[in-house]
Parts: sequence; structure tokens; C-alpha cells
Amino acid sequence: MNIGKHASIPAVALVASVVLLGCERPPPEVEQGGYRGLAMEHVKNPRLLEASFRENVPPETIPAAAPGGPMATDIYQNVQVLDDLTMAEFTRTMVAVTMWVSPEEGCNYCHVPGDFASDDIYTKVVSRRMFEMTRQANGAWKDHVADTGVTCYTCHRGNPVPEYVWTTDPGPDHPSGVVPTGQNAAGMVTAAYSSLPFDPMTPFLDNDNEIRVIGNTALPSGNTNSIKQAEWTYGLMMHISEALGVNCTYCHNSRSFFAWDQSTPKRTTAWYAIRHVREMNQDYLWPLNEVLPESRKGPYGDPFRVSCKTCHQGAYKPLYGAKMLKDYPGLMGRQTEAAEAEQEAAPAEADTQQL
Ligand code: HEC
Ligand code: HEC
Ligand code: HEC
Ligand code: HEC
Repeated sequence: MNIGKHASIPAVALVASVVLLGCERPPPEVEQGGYRGLAMEHVKNPRLLEASFRENVPPETIPAAAPGGPMATDIYQNVQVLDDLTMAEFTRTMVAVTMWVSPEEGCNYCHVPGDFASDDIYTKVVSRRMFEMTRQANGAWKDHVADTGVTCYTCHRGNPVPEYVWTTDPGPDHPSGVVPTGQNAAGMVTAAYSSLPFDPMTPFLDNDNEIRVIGNTALPSGNTNSIKQAEWTYGLMMHISEALGVNCTYCHNSRSFFAWDQSTPKRTTAWYAIRHVREMNQDYLWPLNEVLPESRKGPYGDPFRVSCKTCHQGAYKPLYGAKMLKDYPGLMGRQTEAAEAEQEAAPAEADTQQL
């Protein structure tokens, strides 16, 4: 008998089993979001999701403060936003923000050593506005953030400057009349490495340019939005999909990207989210530009701003929906803010008849 041949069988079997083991990955899970048969599905890869879950774990909650006691404003001299907290809850909130924003640098990242009341350090001025921005998100934007809400950690994750911020992109280093918006310059990070226009953020997530491009008449009459503009819309949509770790069909029925009555409810949430992000950038971050140092600005001198990825970081819900806010009264929206915020209503079926 041929010993050499026999001896090679286990080796072949071993190689084969290793190769096959490589294929034995858990099958992707498919979650249906729209009507059956329309492939409006969210495909989840358990292996990648597992890794992402591990990266998106909220820090432990700080033990609750003892109820009652004096108010922070009774004791401190310069409390302008957190004036509705007891001293105990105020102190607890300071400990929490230190853990979320500047764990290495500590209290003095935002405070002049020995003088907590002083506003002579820009990071404190920025933080005060951040408290207001966070309360506004949680009070006035429940159509987007629901009761899950937002804390400093949602964006900062232990970094003084959140990992995913953006500024207006000057584009490829050699300005070109041929590719003025970056088309065909593949690898633009902002549009998920597609060769779409490289900066969909400035027109849509800072300014409020029209995202919709599909006309509601068969002939182009009256539709002023050209194919060229559609490329910008697609650039934004690539960003949204990448930021949330989802496919287009998480929100749209691909037979009509336009029709709201065929979209999933997530698309309505995303509609509010876009308005929410614009408000954060326009009303909270731009005004801070005056106090920010040059190292916190883009090539055009504009401030670091928020995109979908600043919070979502690849997850359909930031931190996979971990409910951190409920433990931090200092960050909850006040009733008045919710009542005062006059929001535009989300598009109804009526104003978007399908083609
Ligand atoms: C990420 C920034 C930040 C960090 C870190 C931070 N604080 Fe503050 N702190 C603020 C802001 C903003 C205010 C003002 C709040 C307001 O106006 O409502 C403030 C106010 C205070 C005040 C009130 C001072 C006064 O007299 O008005 C005290 C006391 C205080 N912080 C203590 C601390 C302590 C102790 C730590 C560390 C455990 C800390 N802070 C860490 C941002 C920060
Ligand atoms: C929606 C996302 C978001 C949330 C929520 C948020 N921040 Fe920020 N934060 C930003 C962005 C974007 C910047 C960049 C602005 C800049 O360059 O300073 C920033 C900057 C800062 C800075 C300045 C850091 C530096 O070195 O320049 C501090 C301090 C800060 N945030 C504190 C806070 C605190 C405290 C909270 C919670 C009350 C908070 N942030 C919540 C997005 C966020
Ligand atoms: C998380 C939800 C979400 C995802 C994912 C998403 N979109 Fe959108 N899309 C929206 C929303 C919301 C609008 C409308 C924005 C507005 O009117 O302000 C929109 C608008 C559009 C439009 C314009 C429709 C019109 O009326 O002219 C097109 C085209 C589009 N999306 C394509 C895509 C493509 C392609 C993808 C995948 C790369 C995608 N979308 C992923 C939410 C989403
Ligand atoms: C300030 C942080 C923050 C930013 C920035 C942000 N989101 Fe969200 N988003 C949240 C939170 C928190 C939730 C979870 C709400 C819940 O539990 O239902 C959420 C939920 C959503 C959902 C619902 C997901 C689901 O499975 O139900 C969609 C869709 C969404 N966001 C779209 C967007 C888009 C699009 C952008 C950018 C235009 C964006 N978000 C930017 C915080 C943020």
C-alpha cells in the first residue's frame, strides 16, 4: 500500500476543515422593516455586531445623590444653566462629565485650578453651552432621541473632542475645473468612500438646502432639482447609512426613494434627526466659534461640527439604545424647552403623492 498517500489524508482533511471552518460563520440575521416581499430589511451580521456591541458599552452609572439638601445656586456663585439641581446632584454631574469628557485631565480641563467659579478657560464656556445643547436634545427632540436621550458620553466617549467631528472640506488638494466637487476622486471619507461630492455635510447638515430631488411630475416641468444635485443627496445618504450601520432599505422602499407612505417609520425619525443636527450646528456650535482656539477649527476657520456619526458611530441607535440619560437629571430637558420648541411637522403622506 502507498503509505505516502495515506499519510497525506489527515493533512488534507485538516486543511479542508480549516478552510470550511472559515465558512462556518454565524448566518446574518435579517430583520424586516417594511411590507413583506419588498426586501426592506436590516441585515445584521452577528459576528460584526458582537464586536461593535463590545465597543459601544456605556460606562457604569455613578451612584445616585442623596435627595434634598441645599441648591447648587445657594452655595456657588456662577451657576447659570444647572441652576435647578441640588448641590449633591450638581457635584455628581461634575464627576460624571469629568468621566465622560476629560477622564485623564480631570476637573481642571474645564476649571481654573482653585477657582471653580471662573470662566477664564474656554473649555468651561464651551461646556456650559454643551449642557444647554444636551438638555435641548433631550427636551425638544424626543421625535428623534426618544427617552433614550443623549448624554455627553454619547458624543465624547472619554475624549475632550469627540472622535467623529467635521469641518467644511476644501476638497482634493489640486483644485480642478473637471472635478470641482470631488466626483471620481474616490476615497472621500465623508461620503462613505464613494466618489460622490466630498462634502455633503455643509449643504445639508449645517445649512438647510433641499435634500429632495425627485420631482412629482413625470416630465421634468417644475422640477428644478437636477441630476447633479441628486449626487449631493446620494452623498448625504451614504453618510447616513454608514453612520447608522444600515442599508438604504432601513428607511426606503427602493422602488420609490421619494414616497413617504412606502418608507419605514425610521425614515421619519431620520427626517427629525437631520433638523436636529442642523440646529446643533447652527445654534450651538457656530456661536462657540468666537471662543474656540485655532486648533479646534477647520481650514476655513469654521468650528468642529456634529454629523450623524458623532453620536451613532456605526450603530442604528447610539450605544445600541443604552438608556444612560435616565440616571442624570442634570441633562434632562426642561418642560419649558419642550413646550417652547415649535417644530415643523414631518412630511405627511398628503404632501408627497407617489409617482
Ligand atoms: C467638561 C467640563 C467640566 C469638568 C470636567 C468639570 N466641570 Fe465643574 N463646571 C463646568 C461648567 C460648565 C460649570 C458651570 C455650570 C453652569 O453654569 O450651570 C461648572 C461649575 C462648577 C462649580 C460651580 C462653581 C461656582 O462657584 O459657580 C463647581 C464647584 C464645579 N464645577 C466643580 C467641579 C469639580 C469638582 C469637577 C471635577 C470632579 C468639575 N467641576 C469638572 C464644567 C466642568
Ligand atoms: C452631539 C454631540 C455632543 C454632545 C452631546 C456633547 N458634546 Fe461636547 N463637543 C461636541 C463637539 C462637536 C465639540 C467640538 C467643538 C470644539 O472644537 O470644541 C465639542 C467640544 C466640547 C468641549 C471642548 C473640548 C476642547 O478641547 O476643545 C468640551 C469641554 C465639551 N464638548 C464638553 C461637553 C459636555 C460637558 C457635554 C455634556 C453636557 C457635551 N460636551 C456634550 C459635541 C458634543
Ligand atoms: C436612516 C434613514 C435613511 C437611510 C438609511 C437612507 N435614507 Fe435616503 N432619505 C431619508 C430621509 C429622511 C430623506 C428625506 C430628507 C428630507 O426631506 O429632508 C431621504 C431622501 C432620499 C432621497 C431623495 C428623495 C426625494 O424625495 O427626492 C433619495 C434619492 C434617497 N434618500 C436615497 C437614499 C439611498 C440611495 C440610500 C442608501 C445609500 C438612503 N437614501 C439611505 C432617510 C434615509
Ligand atoms: C445627539 C446625538 C445624535 C445624533 C447627532 C444623531 N442621532 Fe439619531 N439617534 C440618537 C439617539 C439617542 C437615538 C435612539 C432613540 C431611540 O431609542 O429610539 C437615535 C435614533 C435614531 C434613529 C432610529 C433608529 C431605530 O432603529 O429606531 C434614526 C433613524 C436616526 N437616529 C437617524 C439619525 C440621522 C439620520 C442622523 C444624522 C442626520 C442622526 N440620527 C444623528 C442620537 C443621535
